[in-house]
Amino acid sequence: MCGIIGCVGCGDGTLSTLMHGLSKLEYRGYDSAGVALVGAGGLRVDKTAGKIEALESSVADRDDLAGTIGVGHTRWSTHGPPTDDNAHPHRDCSERVAVVHNGIIENYQSLRDELAESGHDFDSDTDTEVVPHLVEAGLDAGNDPETAFRDAVARLEGSYALACVVEGTETVLVARNDSPLVLGVDDDATYLASDVPAFRAFTDRVVYLEDGDVARLTPGGWSVTGADGELREPAVETVEWDAEDTGKSGYEHFMLKEIHEQPRALRQCLRGRVDELGGRVTLEELDELDVDRAHLVAAGTSYHAAVYGARLLRADGVPAQAFLSHEYAVAPPPAGEATVIGVSQSGETADTLAATRTARRRGAETLALTNTVGSTMARECDHVCYIRSGPEIGVAATKTFAGQQTALNLLAQHLSDGPVDRELLAALRDLPGDVQTVLDGTDAEAVAETYLDGDAYFFIGRALQQAVAMEGALKMKEITYKHAEGFAAGELKHGTLALVTPDTPVVAAVTGDGEPARKTVGSVKEVEARGAPVVAVTDGRSDVERYVDHVLEIPETHPRTAAILANVQLQLLAYHTAAKLGRSVDKPRNLAKSVTVE
Ligand code: M6R
Repeated sequence: MCGIIGCVGCGDGTLSTLMHGLSKLEYRGYDSAGVALVGAGGLRVDKTAGKIEALESSVADRDDLAGTIGVGHTRWSTHGPPTDDNAHPHRDCSERVAVVHNGIIENYQSLRDELAESGHDFDSDTDTEVVPHLVEAGLDAGNDPETAFRDAVARLEGSYALACVVEGTETVLVARNDSPLVLGVDDDATYLASDVPAFRAFTDRVVYLEDGDVARLTPGGWSVTGADGELREPAVETVEWDAEDTGKSGYEHFMLKEIHEQPRALRQCLRGRVDELGGRVTLEELDELDVDRAHLVAAGTSYHAAVYGARLLRADGVPAQAFLSHEYAVAPPPAGEATVIGVSQSGETADTLAATRTARRRGAETLALTNTVGSTMARECDHVCYIRSGPEIGVAATKTFAGQQTALNLLAQHLSDGPVDRELLAALRDLPGDVQTVLDGTDAEAVAETYLDGDAYFFIGRALQQAVAMEGALKMKEITYKHAEGFAAGELKHGTLALVTPDTPVVAAVTGDGEPARKTVGSVKEVEARGAPVVAVTDGRSDVERYVDHVLEIPETHPRTAAILANVQLQLLAYHTAAKLGRSVDKPRNLAKSVTVE
């Protein structure tokens, strides 16, 4: 939701390290930002509403903003609008303490009332501001900064990743509960961040903090104590991707780069997992997993992957159902013997974590299907399967959706008691190349240009293409701000047809020549008869071309991989529409990449 960066040991480079980190974290929140540095001149803070560029101009005008330790923050508002005052870091009354926070402090109102009663003044509407005041109260009571910080953290209820600096010290104090925080360790410097890209340019060695951990970063190194207050020695792990993977590599937007990275990402996902000659799919990490039935829980794009995956599992003999994770957490269905599969790119989505935690409390076995090594979901679930897409920075999920679809194909085959689908294995082998063919030959940009003035966009598909239709609509609305709806084509005449006009382009995913395709062609005729322009995403195996205004082609393939290829065309359609409308493609308004609050 928000992004945190901190560093100790960077000397004169402290401010530039923080600003670099913020630029890499902006996808997590981008309505305000700030930094705090501590050095010989005392505690210095600069913060401002707006994107990181606004903070960059502001710090450029400050001669006094120096220090050898520091923390920074980029915000996605939860309590109070994006204003200078509500931007982090927040300070205490005496301006000796500065704190950055990601998460929600649920008992902040009672803490605030208590602190106000004892004379503390508040400058912001945020829940976070209670923390520096609690630390201040501890310092005033004669405690050292670390004790004051630990005592403050002990008073908090809710979720938090916190980093705190105190004037006159060379220490950054850190605490985590239900909100991601990772340390980056190097010989001379230590970093902390909500996510690895923030410091990947400086080190590839990382320590994932656990809930309840408090860490201390000093020029001499770092230490972590667990929830029991005892020193822990967490493993130092090595990140497998490079700093360049978090740059734009010459593309105008991260989203476009990530769409084009899909052939490579899918190759990585498939590597070592498909034995075409032997006719086997092997997910070694899931050897111990036995699934009688499955509940897939997810939100947003990942939910669409879950809908797609549940169909695959059912077709392969495993009764499976997809649930919106936020609904599953509050109204779980009868547990039975279901294995609960959390589908989440980030592995940090609060709604989906709530669902997998609900499942664990009810005694269910859990599996995390995620992109993020070391994420909370990966660590909490009994089993984990990585989709291996590499870092995804654009808020709109693209290559990770394709990665989820691909991994779910592998999972369904891995869990199936039936014979392996050799045609599918061949299609998976060809998938990266087929995605490349779509990328090289797409007409999505021209189609996007034609319909920039559309009042609304409808996306339809049947069977596996239903999930693709839903995902196509989500992509379109989140980055173009145009109204879009995606649904099973059969639903059209049960309501939405009333909205269809010559100004509402309809995008139909029609692949194969089976019943789903034939029936979707019927739906296409219905909208065509109402004057709607129609775009078909098709492999040319039906006669849909006869009834449509534009065709976005995909190569012929297996029905399961056709849903992956069709989606690539829809990603490109949404991307080009948004880019031509001049939208903020990578950081659409009101959204954040990782939604770590419920
Ligand atoms: O990290 P997750 O996959 O759990 O995120 C879930 C949704 O917030 C996410 O898929 C969101 O819908 C996409 N960024 C939209 O493109």
